[in-house]
Amino acid sequence: NRVSADKVFPIAQYFNQLQTLMAVFFPRAVTTASEAAVSIKRLEQFLCLEENLPVKTQESVLTGQAVGMREVTASWDKEATSNVLRDINMTIESGKFCGLSGPVGSGKSSLIQLILGELRPLHGDLMVNGTVSYASQEPWLFVRSVRNNILFGQPYEEQRYKDVVRACCLLKDFAQLPQGDKTLVGEQGTSLSGGQRTRINLARAVYRKADIYLFDDPLSAVNSHVARSIFEECFMDYLHGKTRILVTHQVQYLKDVDYVIMLNNGAMVPEDISK
Ligand SMILES: Nc1ncnc2c1ncn2[C@@H]1O[C@H](COP(=O)(O)OP(=O)(O)OP(=O)(O)O)[C@@H](O)[C@H]1O
Ligand SMILES: [Mg+2]
Repeated sequence: NRVSADKVFPIAQYFNQLQTLMAVFFPRAVTTASEAAVSIKRLEQFLCLEENLPVKTQESVLTGQAVGMREVTASWDKEATSNVLRDINMTIESGKFCGLSGPVGSGKSSLIQLILGELRPLHGDLMVNGTVSYASQEPWLFVRSVRNNILFGQPYEEQRYKDVVRACCLLKDFAQLPQGDKTLVGEQGTSLSGGQRTRINLARAVYRKADIYLFDDPLSAVNSHVARSIFEECFMDYLHGKTRILVTHQVQYLKDVDYVIMLNNGAMVPEDISK
């Protein structure tokens, strides 16, 4: 049982490798495997979702109707124990500006989801005529430059881009950012303020060419001065002639729009009361 160098060194080397393997790589493998399991489960859930048929779109250019609903009732849960929207009747003509308001949780975002085809009507007729562009209530950004976040795969057209950026009051922010609109945002990039995120999210929807624009409460995350100029320069001027639906809590803007729809607890408030 002599201890000699030709035994000691290989054994030491072997245990060294074993230690690295067990202390570093094995825990990493366990973590990665459990993360992968979660991701696979999510993918599985997504792939097993019920197929959503596209919203009925008609070429009713003749009638000039952009969005039409007749006695639409919708629910988020399949069993339809509680309806989030009840008996919605509305017609929005092409090129008009519609304001949508109501208390918290009254179903404004759900109505927008209905137009987008994410929420299915249980009964009633829904007609959406034209392409749709949408700015969500929760702004989201991906890890690319601010400009890429606005273009979102659309070709860069200098004049249109400049107009959109100006209309969404982003010029001042670009001047503040370290590399202007080439600044990287998202997980590793510069963190932006809530108002900046909202306006980038809005600019993405405005830059896209569409017939119908849906804006879910973009004015609540910015100060009143900026909100006023977005309302006037973007919604009233830049998008003039397009069909627009704006969800807002700020009732002072509703006097300038063509239609006002007030929701309360999932139902429409009669016009004379909402006035
Ligand atoms: N994606 C969803 N999945 C399931 N339920 C939802 C979903 N979105 C909204 N709901 C439900 O619908 C109801 C109405 O919510 P909704 O978001 O439409 O209200 P809202 O009027 O947009 O409110 P807020 O002013 O706070 O934005 C809520 O009770 C909510 O739980
Ligand atoms: Mg909402």
